[in-house]
Order: sequence, then structure tokens, then C-alpha cells
Amino acid sequence: MGGLARLEYRGYDSAGIALVTDDRSRVATAKKAGKLARLAEALEETPLPAGTAAIGHTRWATHGPPTDANAHPHLAAGGRIAVIHNGIIENHGPLRDELAAQGIDFLSDTDTEVAGHLLGSLVESGLSLADAMRSAARRLEGAFTLLAVDASDPHTVVGARRNSPLVVGLGEGENFLGSDVVAFIEHTRSALELGQDEVVEITPDSVTVTDTHGNPVSREPYHVDWDAAAAEKGGFATFMDKEIHDQPAAVADTLRGRVDDQGRLKLDEGIVDEYVLKSIDKIIVIACGTAAYAGQVARYAIEHWTRVPVEVELAHEFRYRDPIVSVKTLVVAVSQSGETMDTIMAVRHAQQQGATVIGIVNAQGSTIAREADAVLYTRAGPEIAVASTKAFLAQITAGYLLGIYLADLRGNKFPDEIDALLRELDEIPAKIQRVLDTAAPIREVARSMADERTVLFLGRHVGFPVAMEGALKLKELAYIHAEGFAAGELKHGPIALVEQDQPVFVVVPSPRGRESLHSKVLSNVQEVRARGARTLVIAEEGDTVAADHAAHVFYVPSAPVLMTPLLSVIPLQIFALELASAKGYDVDQPRNLAKSVTVE
Ligand code: G6P
Repeated sequence: MGGLARLEYRGYDSAGIALVTDDRSRVATAKKAGKLARLAEALEETPLPAGTAAIGHTRWATHGPPTDANAHPHLAAGGRIAVIHNGIIENHGPLRDELAAQGIDFLSDTDTEVAGHLLGSLVESGLSLADAMRSAARRLEGAFTLLAVDASDPHTVVGARRNSPLVVGLGEGENFLGSDVVAFIEHTRSALELGQDEVVEITPDSVTVTDTHGNPVSREPYHVDWDAAAAEKGGFATFMDKEIHDQPAAVADTLRGRVDDQGRLKLDEGIVDEYVLKSIDKIIVIACGTAAYAGQVARYAIEHWTRVPVEVELAHEFRYRDPIVSVKTLVVAVSQSGETMDTIMAVRHAQQQGATVIGIVNAQGSTIAREADAVLYTRAGPEIAVASTKAFLAQITAGYLLGIYLADLRGNKFPDEIDALLRELDEIPAKIQRVLDTAAPIREVARSMADERTVLFLGRHVGFPVAMEGALKLKELAYIHAEGFAAGELKHGPIALVEQDQPVFVVVPSPRGRESLHSKVLSNVQEVRARGARTLVIAEEGDTVAADHAAHVFYVPSAPVLMTPLLSVIPLQIFALELASAKGYDVDQPRNLAKSVTVE
């Protein structure tokens, strides 16, 4: 159960386990819709027998709602076989018809049950579980990590993978399979990664890997270097609050040790030819959710410093619009987990078109980190709360480092200018700490707003993606309608939404930046106030003009314009956290979401 709890970031709307016992009698299962705690309660009431091999699953529903029946494991071959699955079987429709024609009854709406019955029918035709898995894997289309146990072979678990990840944990007299090493980290730190279209059979004493035709594959184990303590709550009530408070360290750690002996910035893994980076004529950032907003923030800085055009594209839109990508395109894939299937598929598409891909990734050894040509790791540590906070700040920081690296390499900036930028970044962690230390007023205001139905967020320039991220946090955590707008766009339509007492957050730029920007945003504030809005203003310390326009003002320390998102987003994160907590919601695991969406 500990392993399953650690995998809940991949989904938590149902959970289940299946185990086989030495007497070869049957597969015992337990499964429940809802979070893992519900399965644990069910198992306390009706415990399962001691098993010799077991599989377990936490689900994020794709085919069929989160019900007990749709929860994994699914049984096949008259209850002899149990399967669990992560991914989407794209040809489940025709396979279901084919199996139904053979007289098989389906008990769920899932594509997983189809894969299970395919496997079951192959086992019933006389194949061993491993041979049946290889044969089934050849027939399945789409993405899958599929695991199975067979009551008549009680010391074996078989797994197969295509597109979705599967890792083997190598123990002493015991072996493990997991979608992520966190599943077995408490038992072993020796792991082995399964490649595309490979099948693995584990027993307590052996691990056998083959391709889907049965040809042996040899894979080298590696040591997992991961700090389990960093994934505990550290005295905070929720992971999210803890992770918000981890942000000074997340940014500082992401900045640490980036300069080599020659004073040059360096990437973490993989090599991209400097000649290639000097010749790129376009950068495309691909990402989803919060990571895409981090990309949008980074765009302002990277374009400004390198003079290379930067596009930011949602990964799931990228490959379907026939993007213009060439060997002169640098694609930057931003992902906390490195496992977001939409982003993985976009990376592969970009590579097929000849682009160089650099990953900005938090999870070491994840799929995007492995497949990208080079990686710049965000060193935010494990992020457990579903709504991303510290990874967002670390992604922006890494994006800035990449921009500075390119500006240095391509000669856009003199070395003293590069040093000045790095020094400005170095000052950010202490300023983040100041924002955290002075957050009591935003918490109080948030608690007073638990009954709001809709909140708007406005920003300009780098404040625009910050506004959108603030709105996303509120939607994710508090289930309140929230929208982020470019402040200048308001008068072109959205201002029609504003009525008496409508709360509007405004991210006001520094008055020391471009004067016009500051005054333009304040004009936008006046426009909404004139129509009855209640304005909540994030402004730089000492900006008394902004205070005049606010029902509430929340100050952040002054910083160079491009660095301000690393500060101004924090009150918005705390606002969403506090308001959702006031409503009694689970801020670490909001409804309907998954930390890492591992299907397209
Ligand atoms: C999911 C999460 C978001 C996250 C997005 C991208 O939608 O709920 O919080 O920003 O995936 O995840 P990634 O791991 O690729 O950064």
C-alpha cells in the first residue's frame, strides 16, 4: 500500500489490488472507487489472504467513470488472470467486438478489461503468461503498461510496456515492478528501466526481459538517488503549503553549480553541439498546464536576451497543427514529471522533424529526461501536491538559465552582463522568503472570500502568464470559476463580466520598469473599478500609487522586471490554497485531476 500511495500522483479516483496464493486456487482481488484510503478501509474489514505475488493500481479514469466495477484489477480466463493497466488501448473497440463474439462477457467499460480478456484467451489456449503477454502486446495499439498475475503460476508477475513507463526494482529474494521507482523505493534502490515494446517476467529470484517476439534483452541496473525525506510534509498541514515554502530552496538549488571551470553555463545531461545552438533560428517551448505558463514567462526573457523568436505551444496542440520545425529549431520541453504523455509525444514528433530537444524536467530519469537531447534539471525536489507550485518557480528559473546560456553562447551579451543577470537571479530566493514571511494578509483575505463564485486575474507583459497561473490555481484547488486575462485585452470584451463587487486580482508591474507599463495597468485597474470591481492588487514594495487603486494591496519585494513573476505568483498560490482550505477541500488531491497525466 505504501508503494501505491506514492503512485497516487498518477491518479487517485480508484484503487485496487490482486494477489495469488501458493495453493494456486484463485486470484484474490479488492478494488474500490475513490482514494486509496477507501481501499485500505475495505481491506481492513475484509482482509485478503497472504499472497506470493501481487499487483496494485491507482486509477485516473479514461474509459468509464470511476466506479468499483471500472477500478483495476480486471479478471479474465474465468478469474484465473488479473491485469492492471496504465495508458490507453486505442484498438479496444474492435478487440472488444472480437472477444464478445467468442462469448466473453465484459463487466466494465474499460479498455483494460479488453486487454485482460485478450491475455486470458491466449493463456487459455495454452500459452504461458509471459508468452501470452508478448502475443497480446503485439496485437495491442496505443500506450500501455500492462501487468498480470496468473493463479496457476503464483510466484510470477509479467509486465509489458509501450509508450508508458515500467521500471523493475531489484531486491534480495524479491523483485518489483512499478510505473515509477517511488513505488518500491522503500525496498530497493537498484532499478532497471524497461525499453519500448519489452516484456518482463519477475519471480522472487529472477528477472527476464525480452522483446515482444521473445528475443532476450539485456538491461543495466542503475542506482536510484532520491531523497525519501523530501517527500514528507515537514510539519505543514498539507504538501501544497510545504511546497510553497520550499520555493526559496527550489530556486536556489536550480541555480546552484551551473557554471563550469571556464565560466560557462552547463546543462545536466546529454550534449547538444554548440554549433547547433549557435545556428538555431527559432525556439518552441512545449508543455502543458502550469509548465506551459512557466514557458510563457520564460519566453519574455529568452527573446529579450537572445533575440531568437520563441513560441510557446501546448504540447497536445503542437503536433496536430503541422508545426514548422527544422534542424534549426530548438524545442524546449518543460515538464515537472517528465511523464506527461502529451509532452512526450510532442518531443518525439519534434525529434522526427530534426529539431534539437532540451528538457526542463524535475523528475530524474523520467521519460522526457531520457529522450531529450539534453536536460536542464529543475531541482525542486519531489512535488507531491497535484497543483504545481515550487516546480513552476524552478521551471521559470531553468528557462532563464537556458536563456542566459544561449545569450552567452551566441554572443548576445557581454560576460559582465551575463554575470549581472546571474547575480539578479541569485537574489531571488531571499526575496521569495520575504514574500512567504509576510503572507498573513493574503491568507486572511482568502479566508474571507470562500463564498465567491468567480474571480478574475489581470496582468500585462510577464504579469499576464502570472495572472493565468493564478486563475488556474484557483480553479484547480477551490473549484471556483476563475479567468486570467491580459490586462489590455479587458476592454475588448471581458470587461462585460465585471459587475458590482466582482473580485479582480491585478498584477501591477514595477513603477521602475517601463513607466508606460505601470501606468497602463493602473488605467486598466481604474476601468474595472469604475464598473464596481473590488481590486486585489499585487504590487512592488513602496508602490503607493498602486495602493490607491486597491481594495487590498499585497506587496512583494522589488526585483528586475523579468524576475518579478518569481515573486508575484506566490500571493496567488497562497490565495488559492487558503481559500480552498477554508472551503474544506483537499488541496493536495483536488477532484478530477492527476499530478501527472500519463495518457494523451
Ligand atoms: C497536470 C497537472 C498540472 C501540471 C500538468 C503538466 O495537468 O495537474 O499541475 O502542470 O499536468 O505536468 P508536468 O509534469 O508535465 O509538468
